[in-house]
Amino acid sequence: MLTLPGQFEFLSDDFMMEGHAFLERETAALRTRDAARPFTISERFSDAPPHLKFPGDVATWQIAFDGTTLSVERGFNPDADVTIEGDYQAAVMAQQFVGAASPTDSAVAGREVQQVFGKDCIRLKGQFEGDALNAMFAHMHDHMARRTVENPDLAHRAARQGLSGKIREMEEQGYTILENAISPALADAVRATTLKALTAHNAVSLQWMLYHGREIEILAQNPLLMTLIDASLGRGAVIASLSAIRRGPGPGFIPLHTDYAHVPEPYPEFALTGVGVWALEDWRAESGPTWLVPGSHKMRRPPRPGESTNAGVPIEMPKGSVVFFTHGVWHWQGDRTEPGERVTMHMHFNRGILRSLEPKKIDPQMLHRNAPRLGEMLGEDDWFDKMSGIGRDHVRFAHMQQLHGFTAKQKAAIMAEAG
Ligand SMILES: [Fe+2]
Repeated sequence: MLTLPGQFEFLSDDFMMEGHAFLERETAALRTRDAARPFTISERFSDAPPHLKFPGDVATWQIAFDGTTLSVERGFNPDADVTIEGDYQAAVMAQQFVGAASPTDSAVAGREVQQVFGKDCIRLKGQFEGDALNAMFAHMHDHMARRTVENPDLAHRAARQGLSGKIREMEEQGYTILENAISPALADAVRATTLKALTAHNAVSLQWMLYHGREIEILAQNPLLMTLIDASLGRGAVIASLSAIRRGPGPGFIPLHTDYAHVPEPYPEFALTGVGVWALEDWRAESGPTWLVPGSHKMRRPPRPGESTNAGVPIEMPKGSVVFFTHGVWHWQGDRTEPGERVTMHMHFNRGILRSLEPKKIDPQMLHRNAPRLGEMLGEDDWFDKMSGIGRDHVRFAHMQQLHGFTAKQKAAIMAEAG
């Protein structure tokens, strides 16, 4: 059981059944309004994960409605009114965006998918006749989006995202950098929202940033960063804190440390916690970036009082990039010698078995406007904090146990590959 009841892998048999049931209901509703028009649509995506067992790893389906009867089957119909083709992993990312009825949100989704997978990763041809069909398919997209999980095959996913080498680097150095993981436009939007929140609170730093805007919800689910988090902390990793920090010129105010507060020595061989810091402007040594000490996690201890190091390197990366550091690697905030402000978003995640720093606030509307990924990082998918008077949540226990097993197996496969 890799998915919880009511959640689906993109284009799996269960996904198709859910889509079929949705369309049966909606086309029946159209008929009662005398608005039912015939339509056909078909999709085909290459390089699907092998465990879904599609012929040639190509995921397909075709939907036809003649005004009365609906059919939903496997196979690709190139002559359908609307055809959508492309890369499976890109389509998983696109399918997880909720908001298809909003032109603004759809544009953001399209832009961010292209940022990760390239301009032609998904190709759409044709269009439906009439607003009723467009509205129905936008509604269907969102219905499925809030039920579509990430590809659980870590090795396949990382390979399709170009991250296999980054995961090995993360294990070797204690950190890795993903350049241009979001568009400059999203970086600008997150920076504006972050500054607005910091200014409103007259604060240098602020927690609970997830609750400050849609663009931060989208940032929190960035699939590239999530793949590093899954690889380091396992599935079901939870938000420890999403914090914003602003700083102007001057010396850094966060000294050399690890993020393993109150963790006894020696640190465990598996990672407990990891932080992704998003650059919302270009980071140069002069900007006062995070400095990291490559490989320092292998000491499996924090720096001693008064201990210093010459082995740190400044993290330089363009706006829209993220550095992810984990495993108790040593780091500090650098001095800023250039004018202006550095505004950062710190996405601190913990292995799912640990407590968080921020108490979790479950907002049903927020869950409703996002894919299950967001619930997973808020602890919705595991059995912790869910025991009730009538028993344990064995469904979530079994789900997460199986997801951990698959993830660990595929992580081992990534690590065993030649660099
Ligand atoms: Fe830190």
